[in-house]
Amino acid sequence: MQTLHEVRYLRAAIRAEKQNGKRVALVPTMGNLHEGHMQLVRRAHEVADCVVVSIFVNPMQFGESKDLDNYPRTMEEDRAKLQAENTHYLFVPDNNEIYPNGTELHTKVNVDALDGFLEGASRKGHFEGVCTVVNKLFNLVQPSLSVFGEKDYQQLAIVRRMVEDLCMPVDIVGLPTVREANGLAMSSRNGHLSQAERNDAGVIYRELQAVRDRILAGERNFEALCAEAKNEISAAGLVPDYFDVRDASSLAVVDTPADDAKLVVLAAAYMGEIRLLDNISIALGDSSANNR
Ligand code: PAF
Repeated sequence: MQTLHEVRYLRAAIRAEKQNGKRVALVPTMGNLHEGHMQLVRRAHEVADCVVVSIFVNPMQFGESKDLDNYPRTMEEDRAKLQAENTHYLFVPDNNEIYPNGTELHTKVNVDALDGFLEGASRKGHFEGVCTVVNKLFNLVQPSLSVFGEKDYQQLAIVRRMVEDLCMPVDIVGLPTVREANGLAMSSRNGHLSQAERNDAGVIYRELQAVRDRILAGERNFEALCAEAKNEISAAGLVPDYFDVRDASSLAVVDTPADDAKLVVLAAAYMGEIRLLDNISIALGDSSANNR
């Protein structure tokens, strides 16, 4: 594995790989890698000959600087994990390499159709930062495909929409969320939780499953179902932000779904100061698709 810090070396390395006919995959990350990330890397290996992983804690997607400062940085462990998976290139730029002109007046990419609600309501400017940096990473690496986790469901939907709207020649591959034994979605943020808090946070996925099962059993009062789920999450000691049933691709609110509708239930809740996200997909009328 080669670790590259500078854009010029990254570009030269990728150019050479492409000249040799290699299909390049990019796995963009902010580091502090867990099993969820490693599955993205393994999938990248299955579908490409040259795997590039980026680690860049992107200041543009953080609101408060406290959040950015507290983001866990574990470069040596990350490097060892990526090495063990035979990653070809690890790209670790610093801020100046990605934002030589600063972030303030930088050209920004916004996907208004899918922003401003759910995560976008609580974290203004977050997706603008994500899209801008993902766009830059795509331009730098020019991968044939890029792999993202479904845990950040809205992020994945937004990246897909950006690629479609801007005709970017990158296939976006989404992979299912990897979970702890109690169902808690793996996340770099879990490292901030005590063992007891992690145990309690398992309630989020239990409630997502419960709501999914009740919808599959025919219940259609989504508002009441979600309110009940929020109560259960509160009772376990978390502070729920949203718990919503949405259309799986437009993320629009759904009141009366079609018999074959594809839905997603999205949840965000705080355990202390730590914001936890999760979601579950529901394919009405396709029982084989609902067993995760
Ligand atoms: O999901 C993440 O880790 C980040 O939002 C991403 C996609 C690497 C962009 O900084």
